[in-house]
This record gives sequence, structure tokens and C-alpha cells, in this order.
Amino acid sequence: ETRSADDYDMLLKVVLIGDSGVGKTNCLSRFTRQEFAQASKPTIGVEFATRALTVDEDLVKIQIWDTAGQERYRAITNAYYRGAVGALVVYDVTRSPTFESIPRWLTELREHASSDMVVMLVGNKTDLTDQREVSVQQGQALAEQEGLMFIETSAADGSNVEAAFTRVAGQIH
Ligand code: GTP
Repeated sequence: ETRSADDYDMLLKVVLIGDSGVGKTNCLSRFTRQEFAQASKPTIGVEFATRALTVDEDLVKIQIWDTAGQERYRAITNAYYRGAVGALVVYDVTRSPTFESIPRWLTELREHASSDMVVMLVGNKTDLTDQREVSVQQGQALAEQEGLMFIETSAADGSNVEAAFTRVAGQIH
């Protein structure tokens, strides 16, 4: 049986949050279009893209929302989180301050999102091995402490980006 992408069983809204420059937009473009941009501008306001995935034989359409990490470009928070069932909270493994911001992002998430939302902590830019400032163990420990799923990704070489979204979708589903 052939099915079109419009004929999905479930629509899941997933939001991306984290500091500016951690790679949210590129994770989105990697997952939805297999694209990566070496020089990408900060997101202004909100963008979204969708991709259909098969999860346990159901065709699930994931609608991913991406917003600015920079405060001055952020759109209205309530609307951004409304109806979201999953979140990827992203930091950059080569910049410790972006990891130190995670508790602040989790606070915002908990203020605006539903309590049963599936949340994954994502350490991005693993391709930059020489520049790493945050270890896998640090990421794992924070995820465990906060009760989050955890993964490390590279939007540049594509590793684990698919897995990040697929696992969140699988957990929701
Ligand atoms: P805001 O829109 O400001 O919140 O930033 P963002 O989190 O969406 O970051 P964006 O995807 O725009 O990426 C910022 C910069 O990091 C760009 O120059 C990307 O090319 C680069 N980048 C993103 N992901 C990776 C990665 O996995 N590896 C490497 N080496 N660079 C990356």
C-alpha cells in the first residue's frame, strides 16, 4: 500500500530550544531536508518544517518548530510551546556556556509546556572533536539528574540527528 505524506496517522509538534548558535536551525534542516549550512544567520522569530516518519507502523508527521536563541529575536513564548508534545533542548559541546544555560531553558520549558512532554537533551557539534568543552559524561549526568533523554549529534556530518528526532517521536508515540 502506498501512502502520501498527507495521509498521516498522527501529527507531533516538537520544539527546539537552546542558546544562539548551538545548531538548532541546522539540526532542523539536516533532519527535514538533508541540508547543512556552514554559515547560517541567527533565526528571527519562528520557523517550522515537517517530515513524515514511520513509527511502529504508523505514519507520524513531525512538525518541528525552531526559534531564535537570541532574546531580542524571540517570538511569543506561549504560542511557541502550545500543543508541543516533545522538545529538543540543544547545547554546543564546544561551548560550555551553552551547557550552563540548559537549566534556564528547562525552567522556561516547565513554565510553558505540558508536564508530560518528552524532552531530550542534545549535545550538538560532535564533529568538532578538538574543540570539545563538555564531555559525554557531563551531558549524561545532567540528563539523568533532570530526567531527560540524552543524545549527542552533529548537524554537520549528520550523525545521530535522525536518531534524536526518531527517539523522541517513538517515546511520544
Ligand atoms: P539561533 O538561530 O541564533 O538560535 O542559532 P541556532 O541554534 O539555530 O544555530 P545555527 O543552526 O544557525 O548554527 C550556528 C552555526 O553553527 C552555523 O555556522 C552552523 O554552520 C554551525 N553548526 C551547526 N551545527 C553544527 C555542527 O553539528 N557542527 C559544526 N561544526 N557546526 C555546526
